[in-house]
This record gives sequence, C-alpha cells and structure tokens, in this order.
Amino acid sequence: MCGIVAYVGDRTAYPILIKGLQRLEYRGYDSAGIALLNGETHVYKCKGKVKDLQALAKDKDISGTVGMGHTRWATHGEPSDRNAHPHQSMNGKFFVVHNGIIENYSHLKKELQNRGYKFASDTDTEVLANLIENIYLEQKVSAELAVRLALTRVVGAYGLVISCEDEPGTLIAARKGSPLVIGIGEHEYFLASDATPIVEYTDKVLYLNDEEVAVITRDSLDLKNLLNDSKTPEIQKITLSIDHIDKGGYEHFMLKEIHEQPLTIQDTFRGRIAMDESKIFLGGILDVMPKLINAKRIIIVACGTSWHAGLVGEYLFEQYARIPVEVEYASEFRYRDPIIYPDDLVIAISQSGETADTLAAIRKVKETQATILGICNVAGSSISRETDAGVYTHAGIEIGVASTKAFTSQITVLTMMALVLGSKRQTLAPELYHHLIHELIQVPKKIEEILKEEEKIKAIAAVYKDVSNALYMGRGLLFPVALEGALKLKEISYIHAEGYPAAEMKHGPIALIDENMPVLALAGNDTSYEKMISNIQEVKARKGKVIAIVSRGDKTIRKMADHVIEIPECHEAVSPLLAVIPLQILSYHIAVMRECNVDQPRNLAKSVTVE
Ligand code: AGP
Ligand code: GLU
Repeated sequence: MCGIVAYVGDRTAYPILIKGLQRLEYRGYDSAGIALLNGETHVYKCKGKVKDLQALAKDKDISGTVGMGHTRWATHGEPSDRNAHPHQSMNGKFFVVHNGIIENYSHLKKELQNRGYKFASDTDTEVLANLIENIYLEQKVSAELAVRLALTRVVGAYGLVISCEDEPGTLIAARKGSPLVIGIGEHEYFLASDATPIVEYTDKVLYLNDEEVAVITRDSLDLKNLLNDSKTPEIQKITLSIDHIDKGGYEHFMLKEIHEQPLTIQDTFRGRIAMDESKIFLGGILDVMPKLINAKRIIIVACGTSWHAGLVGEYLFEQYARIPVEVEYASEFRYRDPIIYPDDLVIAISQSGETADTLAAIRKVKETQATILGICNVAGSSISRETDAGVYTHAGIEIGVASTKAFTSQITVLTMMALVLGSKRQTLAPELYHHLIHELIQVPKKIEEILKEEEKIKAIAAVYKDVSNALYMGRGLLFPVALEGALKLKEISYIHAEGYPAAEMKHGPIALIDENMPVLALAGNDTSYEKMISNIQEVKARKGKVIAIVSRGDKTIRKMADHVIEIPECHEAVSPLLAVIPLQILSYHIAVMRECNVDQPRNLAKSVTVE
C-alpha cells in the first residue's frame, strides 16, 4: 500500500522523485523518504508526508541523477523517522524501498543477527536489505544475483527498487504481488508503483510481472526472472493524461471525483451500448460468454466499497439473469477452503486491481476450472492481467482514498453484465431489456440533477457534523448502498456509522435510536416503499432523526422525516447509482466541516496491496 518511485538518467532526480511521491501519496502517507545515489549519496527521510520530507531536504544537497523514493503505509514498525524508507543495509552497500510484506522477516532477522547484523529499524524491509548485503558480501556475487538469491528466500509480497554502492547508475527492480511500473524514456528510466508519476515523462511503460527482476541503467534494461531466464519486455502505451491527475479546481480529489460521475458513467458504457439502445456489447467477455451463459453460480470476491458493488451485482444477476450469486469478502474467501465448481463464474471486483486479498482469492480460484472475470479500473493491473477476461470500468484514475466514481462505474458494469446475461439466457424479456438500457443511459443526466442539490445537502451536513454515530438503512438494491454510505462517512469523517437492511433494525440496532442518532433512510420508489415508511416511523417513534433519500415528488415521507433529499424518478435497477450520490456528498461535507483530511484519511491508503 505504499508508493515507490525511482529514476535513472540525466535529469536531476530530486524533483522527479518528489513530484512522483506527491502523486503516489494516496497510497500511504505515514512517512516519506528519498535516496539520491550517484556521486555523493544523500538520504532524507522522516515521519509524515511528502511536504515534511521537502522541508527536511530544504537547503540540503539534492544533486544526483539517480535516486529512489518511498511514501509509506506502515505494516511492520510504527510510522517514524527510523522506520521510514529507503532502508540501508548495515554495511552501507544497499538501499531498498519496498511495497509489500516480508512474511518470514522475523526468521530471516534472527538468522542475520546470528551473523552479527544489527538493525536500525523495526521494519521487515530492512531485513531484506541486510539479507541481500549478506549474500553479496559472503558469496561475492553481483548485486543483481544477490538480489535474486535473497528473493528466493523471501515469503511474502514485494515491489522493490534496490541500489548497490558498488554499481552506481544501476537500479534493480523486482516484484511479486505488489505493482511496479517502468517508464521508458530516451536514456532514462522511471519506476513507480503506478503510472501516475511516469505519465508526464513518457507513455511507454513496462508492467513488471511476479517474480521478474529488471536491471536498469540510463541506457539499458535487462529483464529476467528469479531463475535468471531472460524475459522479453512487453512494452505498452499508457493513455493516462496529466489533467486526469490534477484537482481541476475542486478543493479535494474526492469532490472532483464525485462531480465527474455523470461523465465517468458515460465513459463506462461508451461504446458498449448500441446507438439505438437495442443491445449491450461487452467485448472484454465475448470469448467466455458461453461459459457465462451456462454458469450455474456466480461468486463475487472483493473488498470494501468493491464488495458493496458486488452486493448490488448479486441482486441484479439474480433478478435479471436468474443465476444464483454468492458475494464473498476476498479476505475470508482466500483462507477458507471454498467449494468451487468448474461451471462456476467468479468475478473479482477491484478499483486498483492490486488489492492483495482479492488477488490472492482469484489465485486460489485459478487452481480450479472455474471461469474468472475481473472488473477493474486500472488497465494493466495485476487482477486485470490474471483473470481469464474482464471489463474495465473506465472511471479514470481515482485519487481520493474514499472510492466514489469507481463504485458507480463498477455498478454500471455489473448492471450491463446482468442485462446482457439476462438477454442471452432469455430470462429477461426483450422489452424490459431495452427499457433498462434506456434507464441506464438516463443515469448521467439524473446524477447531474442531484449534484445541483449539493448546497442543500451541505446544509444538512452542517446539522449533523458533530454526531458520534449514524445508522444507514435500505432495502433490496438500496441495502448495499446503505452499507456504502456508512463506509463513506466513517472512513473520511471518523464518525462511527453502520449500514443495515432496514428490516433488521428491529432485531437490535433500533435500541441505539435516540434524539442523538441520525438515520439515513434510503426509500426508493420500489416494492419496499411502504415497508420503508414503517421503518422510518419506527425511528421517529423513538425520537431518532431521519434523513430520507426519496424519489422526486414524494409526499408521504416528507411529512415524517426531519430532512428529505430528492433523487429523480428511476427504475429500481438503476436506483443504486442515484441513491449513493447524496450519501457521497453528505459524507464529504461533514468530513470537510470536521477538518478531516478528505483525500488521505488517517490510517488508510488507496490500494491495499498488503494483507
Ligand atoms: C473505499 O472507499 C475504500 N477506500 C476501500 O474499502 C476500497 O474499496 C477497498 O480497499 C477495495 O479496493 P479495490 O477496489 O482497489 O480492490
Ligand atoms: N512492510 C513495509 C513497511 O512496513 C512496507 C509497507 C508498505 O508496503 O507500505 O515499511
């Protein structure tokens, strides 16, 4: 979950590294550090953010055309100066920046301590630095071979950039489980955890695969696997643009990304819905369509917000394609001994495409004959490359740690998949198929209408910004949206919030209701509307405060709720795409009013590439 950046070439490395770390800071921000390597080595690192690192390096020697940088999300060793990366081996031969976890680090540490190694930090990464050095010095091998030999001893995940004092101008990159992208310039190379630090310098990239090692100088890139077999670099072109990465005038990335959703949902279905709205075409899953049509069961594996999207998918697939669905937390699925049949369809949903638990879950499925699809937002990400087929969400880079546009794009993809499968399995009548396609196409315009209500939602946020708890309740397709709304609030405002199926309130949570408890009631104009009215009345009877999300023109709930936020009328199949928008806006403004760090909430990071 941390961010790595490195450079070798003719430019001064420092500004490239710092700007790269700023672009990667959403991946983790417990500490930051850089090492400037050719000529005299300079290392600057400290607890805190990139801006703290810049303050530390101010007026210091920042020369050098080779370097590496790291912004950390701590797994082993608290956030501190001493635990910040880069880590240097005890005899000073190697510098290492690392994304991932060395699971057998304590065993290796004891071995090295028995050989006289002393440690300056509590991290697992420093153990790797010393292991590489110990092999290098004892076996008198090249730095690259010492790295490969050390990595054969490692259990765990890594994205690494390593330098050796005796080989200035050379960087060694390696990856297993944590992403690493290499940008290819003219007599220069850029390395990073994702493409955002690279895109302004080159559009030619190479995504390292698991157990691959690259030895890089300004003029060469030598790619091999851990067994020293040469590998041919698969150079790709990235289409990311700089304006995708900037805030575009918004105060936070999250607000920009909330407001981008009309466009990003259009981008998600662009080229995938016939102009005459007659059918949906998902080219990414065409080859496996027969297996999808004949699937006896769908298993969805995901984490966090993507798991909530999976729950929406469950309702849609069962409703329209009549295929039983199980939605699994990837972290639970991977450690169980799940029963997976050859005619199962497994769908991994992941914005980053790098979430360790989700990646591990599909690797478990790959040991079976089941078909695996990926719904990812990052092209070239591990999950998108390791699944049999998939559909990219095309939401554009999502920088805010709290996922918003990726969530609605995931639901858009799931809706299209459910409709396509329903049509091909003839479980969805053609008239309804066409009607739901039309409903989907109307969603961006309807979200625009909701976004115009922002000031009204902001006024409600001001009323509830100081609460300690909140409950979210919904039924049917809006139950997963209640979970998502609660997650949004808690992860950026640090208010404890829980989502529940509305009918579950009377089985316990209603005991929490009093005049201090705001309850978000998602009352779509669907079959459960009357039941939602009863649930709202149950809350009001206990002095709870109700903020109701209702369809425009609702007259009944308006009379009983404390606040009403209207969303345009729509078919229930697309109601999650609309109902979640007010919840995103509400949590955003409450977090801002509480002066929380909206884009980089405490303890979190955007891509959970460690377990
Ligand atoms: C969402 O707001 C959270 N940041 C988090 O739950 C996220 O959805 C989860 O970590 C899964 O990430 P992924 O979609 O990249 O796999
Ligand atoms: N395990 C390393 C540490 O705790 C790297 C963590 C990460 O990937 O952010 O420093």
